[in-house]
Amino acid sequence: MTSHADSGPVEQITVDLGQRSYDILIGPGLIDSAGAQISSRLDTPRAFIITDANVAPLLGDRLAASLEAAGIDHEMIVLPPGEATKSFGPFENLLDELLQRGIERATTLVALGGGVIGDITGFAASTLLRGINYVQVPTTLLAQVDSSVGGKTAINARHGKNLIGSFYQPRLVVADTQTLDTLPRRELLAGYAEVVKYGLLGDAEFFAWLEANGAALLSGDDQARIYAVAKSCRMKAAIVAEDEQERGRRTLLNLGHTFAHALEAETGFGELMLHGEAVAIGMALAFDLSARLNLCTPDEAARVRRHLEGAGLSTEPPGHPEGQWDIQRLISLIGTDKKVSQGRPVFVLARAIGEAFVARDVDLGDVEAILGRAVAA
Ligand code: NAD
Ligand code: GLY
Repeated sequence: MTSHADSGPVEQITVDLGQRSYDILIGPGLIDSAGAQISSRLDTPRAFIITDANVAPLLGDRLAASLEAAGIDHEMIVLPPGEATKSFGPFENLLDELLQRGIERATTLVALGGGVIGDITGFAASTLLRGINYVQVPTTLLAQVDSSVGGKTAINARHGKNLIGSFYQPRLVVADTQTLDTLPRRELLAGYAEVVKYGLLGDAEFFAWLEANGAALLSGDDQARIYAVAKSCRMKAAIVAEDEQERGRRTLLNLGHTFAHALEAETGFGELMLHGEAVAIGMALAFDLSARLNLCTPDEAARVRRHLEGAGLSTEPPGHPEGQWDIQRLISLIGTDKKVSQGRPVFVLARAIGEAFVARDVDLGDVEAILGRAVAA
């Protein structure tokens, strides 16, 4: 991978949260100058890079070299890749390791990796010594446009995904778009679903831009990647600044997630469907449901499906690993989603592409009909 040691950020976006405000820096090759950017935000020049075993050999040395060049004393902890790392055992081991190596209140954790590393590192930072600083260096598309921004940190529990966590904002996000060069195609596409989500929930022009430029983005065009990551982060930053703890507008970021969560939970959050893949299916179903309720036209729902499928994402659930989907089980899983409020599931529906809203009064008969059609397809 080419080194861009001199390149500064192409885009700088501020998440405006008063004293907890922070910048998102976006651009190609930023990892090589991350040390200087991080250094200016540190209380003490000491950091731990937390990464996974896939990312460490690709990017670990470059980030370490850039911390070194900025005079930051650093060590690295490499965790196993994959969702299983976001659970109690690995979390406890991580805390133990950090405490054993002697972290202090002014030490900073630097999360180098995808959403798994970002989420567990953020949660560790929020609990260690009652809270230390952390920086996000996201290396998947999903992490660059979603999980590294907004301060949701979590691990999974036996009872479900992301059930133990905190809202705890990072000090800085450094999104080097060139790190996406090595991302497996399937992971890139899963992240792309979250990019499309921003267009669908609040910006019809951005969705149209993706219709025209999504293929370039997915084939590695850096200008397209920077534009899409920046646009997504700008939208997320505005929403988070208005509703940090998801009491209102932030719920819109869950477009497609109520359906996705039920499909993922039913199949054990495994390899069958990556989160972004489930979100793509969920967004198509959310538009189908909106059309069924005469909120948007069937043409709008068809346009959403066409774009997702054209990009290479599936909009129908895959075959159930054990034979058949059980619609009643899916409905009951929707009822146990952590977004349930006063016993009512929360859906994000749309009046049109770019005009999503939160609905708390959806008749489960309609949901059942949509799911029934989807799994029969
Ligand atoms: P991930 O972190 O598991 O990364 C996907 C895979 O790509 C891993 O195998 C990883 O090792 C590898 N990888 C990462 N960067 C790479 C690179 N540059 N080149 C090659 N391989 C690379 O998955 P993800 O999709 O980034 O994140 C999913 C997680 O994010 C889930 O746990 C989800 O719950 C969480 N999430 C959190 C938020 C939030 O707001 N905090 C939002 C969305 C999702
Ligand atoms: N990923 C949804 C959120 O950050 O609110």
